[in-house]
Amino acid sequence: MAPAALVMEGVSKHFAGVQALSNVGLTARAGEVLALMGENGAGKSTLLKILSGAYAPEAGRIQIDGKPVTIASPADAHRLGVRVVAQEPEIIPYVSVAENVYAGALPRRGRLIDRAALRAKVAADIERSGFSGMIDPDQLGNSLSPAQRQLVEILRALSGTVRVIAFDEPTSSLSDHEAETLFALIRRLTATGIAVIYVSHRMKEILHIATRVLVLRDGQVVGERLAEETDEKELVRMMVGRDLSALFQRSARSPGRTILSVENVSSADVRDISFEVRAGEVVVLAGLVGAGRTELARAVIGDVPLTAGKIRVDGRALQLRSPRDAVRAGLCLAPEERKAQALLMKRSVRENISLAVLQRLSFWHVVNRREERQLAERYLRELHIRTPSIEQEVAMLSGGNQQKTVLARWLARDSKLLILDEPTRGVDVAAKAEIYAIIDRLAARGVAVLVVSSELPEVLGLADRIVVMKGGRVSGTIERADATEEKILSLAILDKAA
Ligand SMILES: Nc1ncnc2c1ncn2[C@@H]1O[C@H](COP(=O)(O)OP(=O)(O)OP(=O)(O)O)[C@@H](O)[C@H]1O
Ligand SMILES: [Mg+2]
Repeated sequence: MAPAALVMEGVSKHFAGVQALSNVGLTARAGEVLALMGENGAGKSTLLKILSGAYAPEAGRIQIDGKPVTIASPADAHRLGVRVVAQEPEIIPYVSVAENVYAGALPRRGRLIDRAALRAKVAADIERSGFSGMIDPDQLGNSLSPAQRQLVEILRALSGTVRVIAFDEPTSSLSDHEAETLFALIRRLTATGIAVIYVSHRMKEILHIATRVLVLRDGQVVGERLAEETDEKELVRMMVGRDLSALFQRSARSPGRTILSVENVSSADVRDISFEVRAGEVVVLAGLVGAGRTELARAVIGDVPLTAGKIRVDGRALQLRSPRDAVRAGLCLAPEERKAQALLMKRSVRENISLAVLQRLSFWHVVNRREERQLAERYLRELHIRTPSIEQEVAMLSGGNQQKTVLARWLARDSKLLILDEPTRGVDVAAKAEIYAIIDRLAARGVAVLVVSSELPEVLGLADRIVVMKGGRVSGTIERADATEEKILSLAILDKAA
């Protein structure tokens, strides 16, 4: 067995009302990928934040290459060769990618920043990491997609001497194609003897990249397996504590009248898009990240101006000037970047869930608190949102539980058209199954559902029809009965798709 690069022992940490970690231990070996799995709120990010020096544990010891160390600050971690690629990277909005990567260690000439040297350095880093063509050193922080923000965070982590590098759900904002680039990078890192810790909810990915898998539940270690000696079923059982029935359940659907009709629509980044979504039907927009799917969804709800074409809802041509108009017309979009675009971080879980339905819960502007609480409690149960109470500030929830909270808000709304952009990003398997079941129930009730998804199994499991986009255009439409992963991929990637 390879020597241990990192050993953590007896780590405990609690927050008000939550025992996030109790007596957790792990060993990450040189040249191996140790995967960390567990439901939303199991304690994975907390463990990594202790490793990065961001949180101080109440108890616990850490060794690097056999020597006891103290990690009391991010600077300590950096000096010891420990890097953590955060789940929600902090990006400085109005400065370049290059400055974002080297903020704090900018090359200088006299008292000025040496921009040419900085640019060359980052261009070389991008090349070396295999990210060429995916990100540009001159791009401004505020223009970066979620995938590109993740790449900036990875580039930052690779500076200096690295001994242990941990990735917290690095692929949740990456497409399959981009994820492959990351896996290639991880293989190069492990080949040089670096220990990699890898947190993800994607089972296939874990079995593909990991050497060993450590499973956490309720802040405790439930067990460890060699990746080649375990399978999805066993890992799910360890995580959830029970077997999960089929991930996708479908009730019989009978599509009705056309609810959404997108006719030759163009905007800044999409060209000549046409498709329909009928009542009781789930249409999935598939394609690579950057293919224009989010932009199209935003164009539909009036958040991005159309330069040509028409959008009809229930037969009526819409002149939407803002997402607010769209909500009035019965459309709503649960956006991809939930944290930035949707959550009121300082408000409670209850307030975040009820936000979109306050009118329904109110009489003469007085909110019926009892109904509001019941609504929040119901979604807490249905989506297994893990929080000490519905009054907890959303900022205190784990990443996945924040996602579930904002999703609950849109699911609670009775709209005839629901648009969900990457609804299960960062969400654990049990909650995924629950979200799919809710989408299925809504469709069965006659809601028209449009989903943007980059996960092929999800695309295939949910869709009645798949609209594949590439480079801002529709490259093909596939009916459920004819859909396969290969067909979707070839339409999403190949220049001249068959
Ligand atoms: N700063 C904080 N204040 C209060 N509670 C917190 C704080 N950070 C985390 N928690 C709680 O600690 C528990 C573990 O959270 P953590 O973020 O480690 O989960 P996770 O395993 O990373 O989940 P996910 O898969 O959703 O990212 C959760 O119940 C969370 O709400
Ligand atoms: Mg987390």
